[in-house]
Amino acid sequence: MHFKPILSAAVVCLILSDFTQAAGISNGIVHKSSGRLAAEAIAVSYRESQERFLQSSKDVENCPTLITDELRAEIAAYQPVANQIMEAVVNGAWKSKTYDALHDLVDKYPIRQSGHKNLEDSIDYMMEKMTEYGFDNVRGEQVLVPHWVRGEESAEMLAPHQKKLRILGLGTTVGTPQEGITAEVLVVKNFADLDAKKDQVRGKIVVYNQGWLGSYGATVAYRSNGASHASQYGAVATLIQSVAPFSLDTPHTGGQNYWDWENVTHIPTACITVEDADFMLRLQEKGETIRVHLKMLDYNLPMTTSRNAIGEIGGVAIPTEYVAVSGHIDSWDLGQGAMDDAGGVMISVMALAVLKDLNLIPKRKLQAILWTSEEAGLWGVDDFAKQHLDILSNYSAVFESDGGTFKPLGWTLQDQKLLAASLIEEGVPGLSNNNEADKYFWYHHTEADTITMMDSVELDLNTAMWAVSSYVIADLSVKLPRDDSPAKTVITSNDISQHL
Ligand SMILES: *[C@@H]1O[C@H](CO)[C@@H](O)[C@H](O)[C@H]1NC(C)=O
Ligand SMILES: *[C@@H]1O[C@H](CO)[C@@H](O)[C@H](O)[C@H]1NC(C)=O
Repeated sequence: MHFKPILSAAVVCLILSDFTQAAGISNGIVHKSSGRLAAEAIAVSYRESQERFLQSSKDVENCPTLITDELRAEIAAYQPVANQIMEAVVNGAWKSKTYDALHDLVDKYPIRQSGHKNLEDSIDYMMEKMTEYGFDNVRGEQVLVPHWVRGEESAEMLAPHQKKLRILGLGTTVGTPQEGITAEVLVVKNFADLDAKKDQVRGKIVVYNQGWLGSYGATVAYRSNGASHASQYGAVATLIQSVAPFSLDTPHTGGQNYWDWENVTHIPTACITVEDADFMLRLQEKGETIRVHLKMLDYNLPMTTSRNAIGEIGGVAIPTEYVAVSGHIDSWDLGQGAMDDAGGVMISVMALAVLKDLNLIPKRKLQAILWTSEEAGLWGVDDFAKQHLDILSNYSAVFESDGGTFKPLGWTLQDQKLLAASLIEEGVPGLSNNNEADKYFWYHHTEADTITMMDSVELDLNTAMWAVSSYVIADLSVKLPRDDSPAKTVITSNDISQHL
């Protein structure tokens, strides 16, 4: 697909007084928001999506807005700068640099798991890069993070057939004894099914076959809570159907919680493939008795120190106000974590690098923030919100990319379940790159999340969009107006970006 470098950078001023209003403008640029007021989006729309953009902006004009005509005009005057940035990234000297920097990172540090040395090495590497690009105040702010270790893992169906099962232990899972465990399987379709069969659970391995429930947010509850739920009825382990809308027999890992570490027996828990969960359900429905041998030598170590890596440009004129662009540097221990979320990290760093190179230095401090330990439970961003609570009111916006860097479509206003949730909760307007992420969950948390599935042209477009928008917001004469009335905490379930 070919994109013209010319964009219509226009402001979509959205002050969403409630969720209903947000839903009323839910097509196009913005398709979701919390009820939190004060989401401001600078929509950068490519020529191809102009029609869609205009449709949205017409709707938006009917919204009450804190953005004055004067401010609109000020933003519109940045069009030549936006064109300059787009030209540099899409056709000029910065073309394909994001992709190149990305494979340099992920080929060197393919596995950047919370608690592990490789993550820290990758953070050092990215801080060196930010220094090389000439960012100011490059630093790593310390955070305590979980340290879970995947040991040897295997599973085999012993009856009614012999079959190796592909599994991946879930983050924080305990292991089995060294020799593994062998038990009969009970397949359930959902939590209600499990509750109904609770008298049959004791001593068994519970297999969840919940299917894809229309969204990640709805489906992931089985991965997060499945072990605890089955443990209370005496299950010895759980195997969860991978959270994926499409499968080529690939298991998908992810985090899980033992609700209540004191009172729930911690049982081993892993994902199996969509296909194997379906197979076992069919066998059970045919009256077969299924037995599985499961061996998982996974374990948890004490919390350890990691870092949020931060570099910035600008801020000479207004040193006490900020804009952040961000992604998370940690990944699972599979593939290369190129999509999740080295792509988000790299567009954030390259956005500032290209601005610096073009000598576009904003009035406010524009920060690239590389959050640590997102996959283990948002540890980096939560800590940042606590450490910097006193200045969060001076963030004009936080941008986060953690839902893919495919072809951009515009913006998504962020709610409180996402990567930067703890900042947004404090009232910082949050923006994500809405992109053509239909295949995101095909690759998510699997061995297949590598640079091979990423596209250089699409990455450039994301970098350009990130650079234009963050620069303009950071350079305006005023901080983006925001409504500081209390959050209404509306959370949408159709939420592709929640992917712990
Ligand atoms: C664990 O169970 C005991 C007894 O039922 C209860 O008093 C205690 O509050 C529980 N602990 C937690 C953390 O819920
Ligand atoms: C926020 O920014 C304003 C204006 O730039 C400044 O006067 C104020 O001290 C800042 N507040 C904090 C907490 O940094």
